[in-house]
This record gives sequence, structure tokens and C-alpha cells, in this order.
Amino acid sequence: MAQKKKSSASKSPKANGTAAPSVNITSYMHEERVFHPSKDFSKGAHIQSMAEYRKMYNESIKSPEKFWAKQAKNELVWLKPWKKVLQWKEPVAKWFVGGQLNVSANCLDKWLDTPTANKAAIIWEGEPAGDNKPGEERVITYKQLHRDVCRFANVLKRNGLKKGDRAIIYLPMVPEAAVAMLACARIGAVHSVVFGGFSAQSVADRIFDCQAKMVITSDGGFRRGMIVQLKKNVDDALKLKDAEGQSLTKTIERVIVLKRAGNEVEIEEGRDVWWHRELHHVDANCPAEKMDSESNLFILYTSGSTGKPKGILHTTAGYLLTAKMTSKYVFDLRPTDVYWCTADVGWVTGHSYVVYGPLANGATSLMYEGAPNFPEPDRFWRIVDKYGVTVLYTAPTAIRAFMKWGVEWTKKHDLTSLRLLGTVGEPINPEAWMWYREVIGGSKCPIVDTWWQTETGGIMITPIPGATPTKPGTATLPFFGILPEVVDDNGRPVPKGSGGKLVIRKPWPGMLRGLWGDPQRYKEVYWSEVKGSYFTGDGCRQDKDGYFWIVGRIDDVLNVAGHRIGTAEVESALVSNHNVAEAAVVGRPDELKGQALVAFVTLKTGVIASPELREQLRAHVGKEIGPVAKPDDIRFAEGLPKTRSGKIMRRLLKQVAAGTEIKGDTTTLEDFNVLSRLGSSDD
Ligand code: WTA
Repeated sequence: MAQKKKSSASKSPKANGTAAPSVNITSYMHEERVFHPSKDFSKGAHIQSMAEYRKMYNESIKSPEKFWAKQAKNELVWLKPWKKVLQWKEPVAKWFVGGQLNVSANCLDKWLDTPTANKAAIIWEGEPAGDNKPGEERVITYKQLHRDVCRFANVLKRNGLKKGDRAIIYLPMVPEAAVAMLACARIGAVHSVVFGGFSAQSVADRIFDCQAKMVITSDGGFRRGMIVQLKKNVDDALKLKDAEGQSLTKTIERVIVLKRAGNEVEIEEGRDVWWHRELHHVDANCPAEKMDSESNLFILYTSGSTGKPKGILHTTAGYLLTAKMTSKYVFDLRPTDVYWCTADVGWVTGHSYVVYGPLANGATSLMYEGAPNFPEPDRFWRIVDKYGVTVLYTAPTAIRAFMKWGVEWTKKHDLTSLRLLGTVGEPINPEAWMWYREVIGGSKCPIVDTWWQTETGGIMITPIPGATPTKPGTATLPFFGILPEVVDDNGRPVPKGSGGKLVIRKPWPGMLRGLWGDPQRYKEVYWSEVKGSYFTGDGCRQDKDGYFWIVGRIDDVLNVAGHRIGTAEVESALVSNHNVAEAAVVGRPDELKGQALVAFVTLKTGVIASPELREQLRAHVGKEIGPVAKPDDIRFAEGLPKTRSGKIMRRLLKQVAAGTEIKGDTTTLEDFNVLSRLGSSDD
């Protein structure tokens, strides 16, 4: 049941209940490989050397207000100038106070009288039709997208959506998802995108929490050749009641339905309208609303792997500046790029790096509707080849899946158009990083391992591709204006090489402005753990060069016989064995050692599980890290339980490892069957 404002405060951002354990994480990873950007790459890049990066970074930290004022002036189109760059009263930040602008105008109108107007804003590839037939394709220029957004914005107005109202967007990965987001931004309505894989209950909970007035959905969406019944889920959501029999969704006045899959749906007169029919009643004239810098742009619910979803709130100017600048410098966007971020618009990565960041830069953003392995595991490489993708941004979980499926799928296609690769979402195991570099990037593309969170709005720790020497497994150094630090339980910086909590010392323009309707929880979760700092919930260590190595969520740190070990390192050691595709390590209570290490291991295609292999893997970890990290138990599994954005749900694995009943929220679990298939220690 959804409960407004009744959430239990949690000490660590992505978990409920328990306080973050004290940290003193010992780091065992000894990665020595360093890769410098090629001269060729650096020559054409926005930032061409470490000296240039350092100069700009130092400016951003020494005189942040001056730095951000300059950036905001250069990067954004303002309808009214701001009076004050930053008003900071912990934990509430206000950026560019008094200024006015419109996000959709910055992404679209800005390009109308320029050569970009007729450039592809969105290249869309639909889910393939089966038998490996190519999917539908659509290319939408900036001019066309502007027109589509204006018309749909008029549809929203016609249907009663006003400035400040909330609308739920529950759509598949089709261009209309971007149109709906931009149309909301255009009229000043606040969108909350709900991932199309979520259930009716999740939709209802989110409607209730943000008191939404409208749902924008489609009849259905395609996923691996099947139809996902989106409209049916909305109908079900709109019938749900809480324990007292009260409707959760009584604020909903209108449902706009896009025709996508052609499946039959029920239309409730007076409540539901068809997108295409509504378009007949509007024209393409819709001036962008003047929005204050701090007006709300979107709410995005993040479930992490535990706890009641939090409504992360982002506002207008600071968020857009962050999305725009990080896209420009981290992906080194150039006018000729075909840029592809594989994230769904239901995640923050889809917001910042499919829609707002690329469009604010006048880039071409590729959107793909389907799954990476449908109808065959070469789907991504087929798309890269077909469109000549130059920049690819994806997640470690996908990279590990590609490794598992094998190089015969990548070899079928020409990937030489790629010039830059990126990853986000989890620590990337050095082995996966090397595979990405060599097999996908042909050893010539810089890799940007980007660390950030839904809460941070944009990339925070990352290589700058033309400048930063990279090492497999680290997100390297902070982006401009970001001051991260690794600290102990008392908030004191720990020496280089030691592990601790990752905090951010200064406010930044893209930071969340709060949790929707729950200022108290916002304060408790992010601003109470370490005095005066934003607490990320991640464990981290800095190496001798100052590079940041994320060792996983603080809650996932294990204490084995007095040694504190980050799960990410043991997992990377396992993945560095050539038989292993993926690994998740959790603790199990152990009388002797406090916690025993249990590893769930997925093997590469064709490798057979055996007791010998188990011993071999234990020995391998012993060699890579040290005897203390040898898993006590290794369980071979066909798949690992993951959230729908691809993060391993260690909370569930802990319960499997401890042999207890699975409890708690499993609504974000991607494939529930995985849980029942998890092997025991007997093969
Ligand atoms: C993890 C996704 C290591 C981290 C944009 C963070 C990472 C959480 C990385 C946020 C990375 C994300 N290296 N860990 N490059 N990127 N994470 O809110 O634990 O879905 O706190 O945002 O993912 O996940 P979220």
C-alpha cells in the first residue's frame, strides 16, 4: 500500500532501516594498467589535455559561482537573467535564482534558425519483427521534433494539464516518450516517467505519491516479440485501492493513449483519449512557458534495490546545465556524431543522456525500442553497423552479457565507426572493461566509466576522454564543480589507498532538490550521515593518483574475520577468470568469521559447472586478492536477480545465501524465476 509521508527514514540513501556500517574497507584490487587517449582523439576533443582539465576544474572549485555563471550564460538560452547564482542553506540549494528559461526551448527552439534544424534529433529503431528482420525506423529532425512537441503540448493543455501539474509517462522506448517529456517541460508541467516494465501497482503508487492528474501511455509496447499491455496496466492501476478502500489514483482526470502495438484496449469515455485523434484538434503554435530556474522539471522514482521508492525531484536550470555540460564534455559530442545511449527513458540515464543532454547540445540521439538479444545476441552490433554509431553508452551488466554470448556475435558486424565508449550503473569489472575496449572499441576508443546517481542529475566522476588517462575499473576524477571525498565514520578524509564513504562536499547545479513531499526523509537520507556533506551511500577508495574506485554500496560491504571487503572487488576477481560471465558476492552469517562469503556465479556459454571448477575459482580469488577473500561457498546460477535497470539485487541473494525466506519488495526484480532457479551448493 502506498503511504504518503510515512516512510521510515533510512540512514543510507538506497536502503531502509539500518544505519550504514562503519567503514574501514580494505582494498585488495591491484590494477596497474593505464591507457592514455590517443593523440588523434585528443586533437579533436573539447578538452585536449590534463592541464586543460585541471585548469578548468580548479577554477570551478576555487570560484564556483563565477565558473557556473559563465557556463550558464554560454550554454543556456535565458528568457530573463538570474540575480543570484547560488543560494545555499543546507540541505536546500537554489541555483540561478530569479532567472527564467524553458527546457524544451533550450532543446528545440534554439536550433530552429541554425543548420541543426534539419539534422536528425532522434534516430529511432523499432524492435525487430522476428526472423531477424530489421525493425521499423524513423528519423526525426529538430524542426520536426519541435513541431511534434508543440502540437502535443497543445494536446496536454487541451486536456487540462497546467503549469505545476504532474503527469505520469508510461510508454515504451518510442520517440513519443521524448515528445511527451519535452511537451510537459514546454508548458511547465512536471513529468514522472515510469519504466514500461513496471506493474500496475508501481504505477498506482507513483500516481498516489505525486498526486498526478494525467497518465500518458500507449495501447502496448513490444518486448522480445511479445506485447506488453501498458494500457491494461494503467486501467488496473486506476482501480487499485489502499487498505481503507480509498482509491489511490483519484487525482487522475485524463489518460492519453498512443497507438503503438495495435492491441485491443478499453477506452473509458470521459477519461481516456487517443493521442492521434487529439492531434486533429490542435495546431503547432505553442510558445514555451517562461519557467523560473527552480521550477520543478521532473520527479523520478528510484527504488534502488531496497525500500519504498523515493521521488527524486529535479528542477529546471541547474539540471539542464548539468545534463548539457556533462554530455558535451564526457561524450565529447561533435556535430557529426551518431550518439547512442542504450538506457530506457524510464531511468535517469534516459532522461539526462537520451533526451535532455544530447538535444540541448544539438546532437543526434539514437533510440532503440527492444532488447539487446532479440531476435539474436548481435542486435546492438547490427544497429551500430547500420547507423554508423560513433559514441556508445551502456551498462556493465550488458557488457558482461555480451561477453557471455561470445565474440561470434560482435564479429559479424563492422564496429569501426565507434570512437568513444561509455558505461554507467555499477562498478565495471576490469575484465569487462578490457573486453569492451578490445572487442567493441578495437583498442582505439577511450572508455568513460561514469559514476553518478539519479539524485545527482548528471555525471559526477568520470574521465574526460581527450585528457584523462584511464585504468580499467575506475571512474577516475571529478567533473567540473564536483568535490568528492572519501571519509571515515567521523567525516574525516581517509588516507589515499584506504576505503571509506564517498561524500560530495559542495552543492552542484544538477543535484536533487529534495524528495517529493518528504523534506525530512531527504535530510535524513542524504545530509545526516556525514556532517555538512551529501552522502552518496557508496563505498570508495582513492588511489595514489587520486582516482576514485567505487567498491559498491556501503550496505554491501562485508566483514569477514575482521577484514572489511567490498563486494565489487571479489566479483571482479571472479570475473577475471575466463570461465566466468558474471558474479555476485554476498555475506552469510557465520559463527566463526562473522560473515562468510557466498559467491553466485554465472558461467560463460558452453562452460560446465563442476566441483573442480568451484575449487579452481576459489583458488583464483585467493591468488588475485588473498586468502581472506576466498569465497566459502560458490553457487553456480543460470542468472542473477537484477533490478530492471540491471543492478544485481544483493539483498535477495543474501536471503538465498542465508537460507531464509525471501522477504521484502521484489517489484523491481526483472525476472522472478531467476530466484527459484538459483542453485544450491550441490551441482
Ligand atoms: C552505482 C544511475 C560504480 C552506484 C546513473 C550509484 C556506479 C548507483 C557507477 C546509482 C559507476 C553508478 N561505477 N558504480 N560508473 N554508476 N553506480 O540511481 O552505486 O540508478 O550510487 O543512477 O549506481 O544508481 P542510479
